Parts: sequence; structure tokens; C-alpha cells
Amino acid sequence: MNINGRHYRTIWEMRERQVAIIDQTRLPHEFEIIRLQTMADAANAIRTMQVRGAPCIGATAAYGVALAMAANPGDVALDHALKSLGATRPTAVNLHWALEEMKTAVSPLAPDARAEAAFKRAREICDEDVEICRSIGEHGLAIIEAIAAKKDGEAVQILTHCNAGWLATVDWGTALAPIYMAHDKGIAVHVWVDETRPRLQGAALTAFELGAHGVPHHVITDNAGGLLMREGRVDMAIVGTDRVASNGDVANKIGTYLKALAAHDNAVPFYVALPHTTIDWSLSKGEEIPIEERSEDEVLKVRGRTSLGTVQEVAIAAPESPAFNPGFDVTPARLVTGFITERGVTEASHEGLLRLYPERS
Ligand code: MRU
Repeated sequence: MNINGRHYRTIWEMRERQVAIIDQTRLPHEFEIIRLQTMADAANAIRTMQVRGAPCIGATAAYGVALAMAANPGDVALDHALKSLGATRPTAVNLHWALEEMKTAVSPLAPDARAEAAFKRAREICDEDVEICRSIGEHGLAIIEAIAAKKDGEAVQILTHCNAGWLATVDWGTALAPIYMAHDKGIAVHVWVDETRPRLQGAALTAFELGAHGVPHHVITDNAGGLLMREGRVDMAIVGTDRVASNGDVANKIGTYLKALAAHDNAVPFYVALPHTTIDWSLSKGEEIPIEERSEDEVLKVRGRTSLGTVQEVAIAAPESPAFNPGFDVTPARLVTGFITERGVTEASHEGLLRLYPERS
């Protein structure tokens, strides 16, 4: 996607087997590119959320294995890289998918062939992700077009939660790809952007992306969506996901479930956009998905730019109060209108998933 007229992916290769990422912890106030030189750098970037979003986490982990192989292509180093990267964040299954892909590509090879093969596979994973997201965009575009056809030129009102845009993938995004394509095609769209407490991925990242692309939007508090849906001011919701169980239950950023409940109560279509790399076929239901618990500081403090232009963190809660900070929740399949995937749109169920991915039956 373009930032100030220049095209960026979220992760790319530099000279001498180094990898570059955009530091997402600094957006939207600062646009900083950082270099990953070692596997530990890649693991740290995922852990500290310099990169985040399920597909982007997977791509970074893939490059983490490549960096490990460039430093030491032995079996012990490979094993250590797979374990270290696999332990960075628990919910997004794309991480484990990417590590499995890297292991398959690298482990049968002689050590001196591993680094090159690892960089090649990491590059392919990134390119594949871009094509998958483009395809998700095209399938989701058809849904937006169908709604637009009934709106007589009025903007299609779309609510989204967290950030499932290009920053969360390698390019395009999942939930935001159809929105970008609709906008580029001249269809009037307007996005209600949930701020997404506590880390504010909506306010900081989704709004940044949409603004850079010229898509009309408003940031809303996480609690506003229910009112807007009751007032008929939301035509559809689209969110991304970190892991889908084989029965169609969806783990996504904390607060997604409440939006799905409100959408269901108000007959607002609620779509989940995902690549195949986010489906965990080994889990039979959402209750089995591990939910990340993060630091209470994320709830008790807020970071932002002051009127003097400096970026600062401030405390917002009563000083002695503890906090609890689950990072994700699970939306049951029955609340999901449909899955938008790279292979098309399907219902959120085991049967629906198998219809698109029959090789899994
Ligand atoms: O904690 P984050 O920012 O990694 O959470 C990201 C999300 O919840 C996204 O909605 C999800 O990963 C889908 S990304 C296309």
C-alpha cells in the first residue's frame, strides 16, 4: 500500500540477508523502519508487537527462521529458532503454519543449502499472502457491490474492529482489502473504525491506513457500534481473525464478540475475512483456541502524542487498581454471516469450510 506516494509492504528483504519492517508500535505518530538482523530480532518484533496481525506475524516468523539459518544452519539452531519463534504469541495460528512451512522447506536439506532455501520460502510466503489478500478483496468486493446496488449512490457503511488491513498482512489486508477495492472502483464507502482498546489498533493503525488511502472513515469508541447498528447506520461489519476452529468459531481481537452479538440482534451482516493459513483444522471448536493474556499496563496506561508533539504514556486508572487484559475473544460460528476467503465466500461452519477446502475432508 502507499504511504506518501511510495509503495510499502509490511516486511521486505534488504541487502546482506537483512529484513526490514515498519515499527507498528510507533504508528500513527512516527513512521519508522527497523532492521531485523537476527532470529532474536524477529522474535522480539513479534513479541513486542512491532509487527502484529496474524498473517504479518507468520511472515515475520518465516524470515526469523531464515535469519537463524543464515547465522547457523545446524539442526540445533533450527530447532531453537522454531521453538523461540513459536513461543512469541499464542493466538494467531498463522505463526505455527509459517513455522511448519519453514521446517518442511529447510530440515531435509544439507546445512549449507538451508539459508538460501529458507529465504526463498519466506519470500514465497510473503508473495503468496499478497495474492491471497488480493483474492479475498475481490470476493469481498462483490458483497459490498451488492449492498451498494441497493443504496442509490449513498455510501455503504461498514464497521470494522482492530486492524485487519495491510499492516496486519504483507499487503492489502483481509477485512480491509474489499474496502480498498470498492473505494478504488468508485463505490462510495464509509468505515466506522472501532478504536480497539487497549492497544488502539483501530484508532492508530486502521484509521492511519484508511486515511493514507483516502477512504472516508470515523474513529468511534468501542462502545458506539451497538448504537449505530440500532440506528440503522451500519450496513455490514467485516473483521479479520487470528484463528478459526474447524467448526467455524472465530478468535479475533477482544471486543469482536460483542460486535457480532450487536450485529446479530440488529440483522446487520457480520463477515469474517481470512486466508486459509488462519484455519486451525486440528481444533474442533473455539473453546480450544488459546487466548493471549497481556500486560495489565496496556489497560492502565495510554500512549499518545501531547500538544507539544512528544509521544508520552500516561496512567488512566486509579493508582492501586489492578487490571485484566485478555487480548482476544471467540465469536461463535452462529453469529457469523459468512467467511470471505481467497477461494470465495462460504458459511461459517465445518461444512462451509470443507466446501472451499475439500482437500481437508
Ligand atoms: O493483537 P493483534 O494486533 O495482533 O491482533 C490483530 C487482530 O486481531 C486482527 O484482527 C487479526 O490478526 C486479523 S489480521 C488480518
